[in-house]
Amino acid sequence: MAEEGQTPEESLAQVNSVTNGRLQEIRFWVTIMKEHALFIALGLPCDQTDLIAQAQAFAEQFETLEERVRQVTTIEPELLEEIIAAVRALIAFQRGILALMLQCSIRPSIPPLFVDHITREAVHFLELLLNPQPPLSTIQQAIRRAVFWLRQMKEHIEFIIHLLDPSERLLINQAEKLLKVFRKLLETARDLESMSESRPLFFNAAVRFIFEVNEKTAILRDFKATAHELVVLCRVLSTVPDPLLTDHVRREADKFLKEMEEFKSLTNVCESMRASQ
Ligand SMILES: [Fe+2]
Ligand SMILES: [Fe+2]
Repeated sequence: MAEEGQTPEESLAQVNSVTNGRLQEIRFWVTIMKEHALFIALGLPCDQTDLIAQAQAFAEQFETLEERVRQVTTIEPELLEEIIAAVRALIAFQRGILALMLQCSIRPSIPPLFVDHITREAVHFLELLLNPQPPLSTIQQAIRRAVFWLRQMKEHIEFIIHLLDPSERLLINQAEKLLKVFRKLLETARDLESMSESRPLFFNAAVRFIFEVNEKTAILRDFKATAHELVVLCRVLSTVPDPLLTDHVRREADKFLKEMEEFKSLTNVCESMRASQ
């Protein structure tokens, strides 16, 4: 359906873009879900054999879905329903694990916030599955999405600090500096999100903010890529359970960058903002 103020051509271009982007989106998130299940299996206490088996079963289920979504060119309704059911079940499982942690019924090596973090990502994916969204085309949408991702980016840094050996002082220091930046970006994003509720005709300050966010996220992305390389080469002391974890958070930073880049390319407000500088 054409949005207010859109020409039919713009509306059609939007529909095509949604169809093309949706498959990529689903492929990305199905892999992420599979890895979350693996991280839970790795982080549970070894005596929780039943929960570990359930987490592994989820990893296998998403691995199968991952292969299927890689082979198709469109997501048929049956496959979509299967993915939705699998994500719903994974969310329920992760919430169950989190409740057990909060009640101190289990004492795993992964922090409760990590389980909350990955559940938030699963809920985000479920929302995308249930309500297919067009690419971010308004500053309000971009800011809302930035609030989601900045919270995830901030927590990635907190998890990395937590996983580094205390003797890795220089790396911890570097991560703490990034944490300060991302805490501030998240706070600002929440302010701008609230202000954008007034639906201004244009909001160039927020567009400038998206540019800043992109710049800082590219730095964080490089930091994560370096951390991953160090883990793979065994050049860092840490409790990172698997190099897949550092690669996973780097891929999420790339996804955030891609979404913000797409917003920038779709909107001419950036050009007008630059022209007025
Ligand atoms: Fe994740
Ligand atoms: Fe994440």
